[in-house]
Amino acid sequence: MTDASSVSNAFWAPFTPMRQFHQQPMMFDSAEGMYYRTPDGRQILDAMAGLWCVNAGHGQASIVQAIQEAAARLDFVSSFKMSHPGAQAMSDALIARAPEGMTRVFFTNSGSEAVDTALKIARAYHQARGDSRRTKFIGRAKGYHGMGFGGLSVSGIGRQKRDFGPLLGEVSHLPLPYDASMRFSAGQPDHGASYAEALAQLLDIQDPGTVAAVIVEPVTGSGGVYPPPVGYLQRLRELCTQHGVLLIFDEVITGFGRVGDNFASQVFGVTPDLMTVAKGLTNGAVPMGGVIVGGAVYEAFMAGPPQVVELMHGYTYSAHPLACAAGLATLRLHQDLEINARVREISSHWQSQALALEGLPHVNDVRSIGLLCAVDLAPRAGAAGMRGADVARHCFEQGVLVRASGDMIVISPPLIISPAQVEQIFECLRRALLVDGI
Ligand SMILES: Cc1ncc(COP(=O)(O)O)c(C=O)c1O
Repeated sequence: MTDASSVSNAFWAPFTPMRQFHQQPMMFDSAEGMYYRTPDGRQILDAMAGLWCVNAGHGQASIVQAIQEAAARLDFVSSFKMSHPGAQAMSDALIARAPEGMTRVFFTNSGSEAVDTALKIARAYHQARGDSRRTKFIGRAKGYHGMGFGGLSVSGIGRQKRDFGPLLGEVSHLPLPYDASMRFSAGQPDHGASYAEALAQLLDIQDPGTVAAVIVEPVTGSGGVYPPPVGYLQRLRELCTQHGVLLIFDEVITGFGRVGDNFASQVFGVTPDLMTVAKGLTNGAVPMGGVIVGGAVYEAFMAGPPQVVELMHGYTYSAHPLACAAGLATLRLHQDLEINARVREISSHWQSQALALEGLPHVNDVRSIGLLCAVDLAPRAGAAGMRGADVARHCFEQGVLVRASGDMIVISPPLIISPAQVEQIFECLRRALLVDGI
């Protein structure tokens, strides 16, 4: 940990116990490839890809250069009624990688804004078609959709909502498609598609004609890395189509190679109506998010008089020149490094290393897919979260950065990771779990 005197009293960090942070600050002052460096010169293997976002590894020269050039050429231009060439090129590059039929992108500055934008587009789409009864949303247990009021409303993590109500009222939730029979599974569980029938029930309860959209992460991310059972997403798609409900995939984590293709929807063969992206979109180097929109949804907005704004929504920094430059360079780099193929190649090694944790002390479950993994630890009696925090701290002391979310350890490294680095991460975890008193 860094010297406590280096922390400003003015700094209030997100999702952080501040008083503890002031006592034991964790600081990094540079990064390259798979590694962070601390102010005292220690090299730390980044097994979190920053925060699920530095998919192509830190400090990539082509991205740095693209940002520098963009800043020198065009610092800012609004996207309200005007644009710049970088935004056009970025839109084309993104749509070229999107599932077939998804033809437009609306840029935001974060995943949270992307989710709130997608929810607004969903309601406005039904309005535009004269179907104004459709205002309700359906999320899913353990879903994380960012911290805007919309995203928080559809999220399925109660602890995060507790202090901020009232949220959007017209939201219900699907159950998590997971049970004990799927413990210690690698990749998609081969059973459990029938969990999707809960949507048929919910639609029936709500009156399907009042529901605007269903939003799910194709693989639950922050809530605990739960891959969808085989056939589950297909059934959600069928039910949404049948009832005229839009399907939104939140691909903020699963996009850009994390599960072995540009998007999880391509891996699972299910195309949503709207797709939210952020994080890996710019390799984390400049904040950017977006909503990728199906052609039919976009067209529904284009029926009115051409001089009228079709979507009364946007952000000052939508399609910011620096973000577009970083995004374009990132997408090119993904292609040059053949990131998707790399992930597909290494993921079986990843999954077998992950599964080898079964049987170690305190390990209740392990789930993995692509280059994602979550390890559930048994909480200590009367001290929930302490074991997870201690394991993460031990790993950090041994030179590996993993994320503790309560008593769950989450791992999502940059996608350029080598087999030896995969082994280093899991060996470090293994040793931490065997430490006396952990
Ligand atoms: C699936 C998902 N959606 C939305 C968000 C919110 O993104 P941001 O933190 O960029 O607002 C996150 C962040 O982790 C996420 O994982």
